[in-house]
Amino acid sequence: MQPAIDLLTRTNHDNPKTVLDLGCGPGNITPLIRRRWPDAVITGVDNSDEMLARARDAEPEVTFLNRDITSWEPEEKYDVLFSNAALQWVKGHKALFPKVINMVAPGGVAAIQIPRNFEAPSHTLMANVIDDGPWTELLTPVRGNLPTQRPEFYYDLLSPLVRTLDIWETEYLQVLDGENPVAEYTKGSWLMRFLSYLDEPWKSEFEAKYRALILEAYPQRADGKTLFPFRRQFILATV
Ligand SMILES: C[S@@+](CC[C@H](N)C(=O)[O-])C[C@H]1O[C@@H](n2cnc3c(N)ncnc32)[C@H](O)[C@@H]1O
Repeated sequence: MQPAIDLLTRTNHDNPKTVLDLGCGPGNITPLIRRRWPDAVITGVDNSDEMLARARDAEPEVTFLNRDITSWEPEEKYDVLFSNAALQWVKGHKALFPKVINMVAPGGVAAIQIPRNFEAPSHTLMANVIDDGPWTELLTPVRGNLPTQRPEFYYDLLSPLVRTLDIWETEYLQVLDGENPVAEYTKGSWLMRFLSYLDEPWKSEFEAKYRALILEAYPQRADGKTLFPFRRQFILATV
């Protein structure tokens, strides 16, 4: 939640009438948005029915729509567009980000957070395992192009389209419990993507190789905790 809280703290709009929670997921952030702007009409958008069902349970007052961000053409523009940890899943940021900015009403604000941890050992070691095994040919195309780009990409793309643009990164030092918690963490997201393409015995072999490398890269501290620095990119634009 902390990156969303930090972004929300820096998102200034006195009295938005409408707020869009883009890629709202199960509605974890929506209550924070509602508390910040209690008079605004909030709309949550996601393309997962399962996520939206949980969001509707959590926030019955909010309108939740099942829309795919890539193809959605909203009928109205929003005073605040808030998007936390969602746009990294959507390909083609060169077309996507101007489209997202275009969803914001004149005088409005776009506030976006995307993880950018792809240069950390948690991800680069996965690439090493892909390159070093019988699965290389199978998995190399899956690796594909990462949607998330460096800050200067978003600056060049968006600065001609907006009035003000602030981009920053924060590396959060996550303190984790468990035997090999960084491997568990990535298994919930990025690692799973590759494992889903493999059958046994490659699947187990791939995971075992990755887990061994990760344990070495992220050793337990004296107190038994493991530190996992995680970089996130923030984009805040007024339109
Ligand atoms: C990691 S969750 C973040 C949820 C929420 N914003 C939060 O911070 O807790 C990412 C969400 O983006 C949604 N998502 C991914 N691609 C999408 C797309 N093309 N259109 C709409 N939603 C999408 C997923 O369904 C998922 O619920």
